[in-house]
Amino acid sequence: MPVVAIVNQKGGVGKTTLATNLAWALAQTGSVLLFDADPQGSARDWGHFNTGGPENLSVQGAGNNPLVDQVRRLSSRYDWVILDGPPGISNVSADAVRVADAVLIPAKASAFDVWAATDIVEAVKARQTATKGTPKAAFVITMAKPRTRLGRQIDAALAELGLPVLQNRTTDRVAYTQAGNDGTSVLSGSDRTARDEITAIRHELEQLSHDHQ
Ligand SMILES: Nc1ncnc2c1ncn2[C@@H]1O[C@H](COP(=O)(O)OP(=O)(O)O)[C@@H](O)[C@H]1O
Ligand SMILES: [Mg+2]
Repeated sequence: MPVVAIVNQKGGVGKTTLATNLAWALAQTGSVLLFDADPQGSARDWGHFNTGGPENLSVQGAGNNPLVDQVRRLSSRYDWVILDGPPGISNVSADAVRVADAVLIPAKASAFDVWAATDIVEAVKARQTATKGTPKAAFVITMAKPRTRLGRQIDAALAELGLPVLQNRTTDRVAYTQAGNDGTSVLSGSDRTARDEITAIRHELEQLSHDHQ
């Protein structure tokens, strides 16, 4: 039932990669709808490729009806809805924040990417104020280069924006791009570190979402 929106107005920060892998991970134990709110349809295309994925995973693109109505109507039928957000700040990303129980904001390891997230952070905080705390929200660092000064700078920059940062992150690994191209998940690939990263993020997401209930 929880609706998880993966949003950041900046493109190329890893929204779709996180959305597809988390949807796949959650579908190991429950029914999942991966809802593609990006007009570019990357998650939907990925879904067309993927034939050997978990049975419990459905992928759907946004229709013409308002996003909030579509997602609310669908969410009762699934254990999880993962919403892959569009680039840009638009009504669609505002709606994604509005309909979500939890929001993950992927942030790539560069200060420009952190600053680019300011608008979506403001939208999330405004919504939290209006609703006394929903959605729960956190940054997820993506494509991290471990043990670099860059990494520490990003942690500091994110802390200033005033939302928590998940402890687990994805590091920069070719397995993610390969899985995206193949229409699969790193969970079915041979890169054990990537598998562990997604599994760990999945557990943190479950905690974040359940805090809310
Ligand atoms: N952890 C990672 N390591 C390496 N490449 C990644 C990782 N996460 C995403 N990518 C790659 O970065 C590019 C942008 O990712 P994508 O998920 O499409 O971002 P967005 O949906 O925010 O535009 C893609 O080529 C994807 O394969
Ligand atoms: Mg995308």
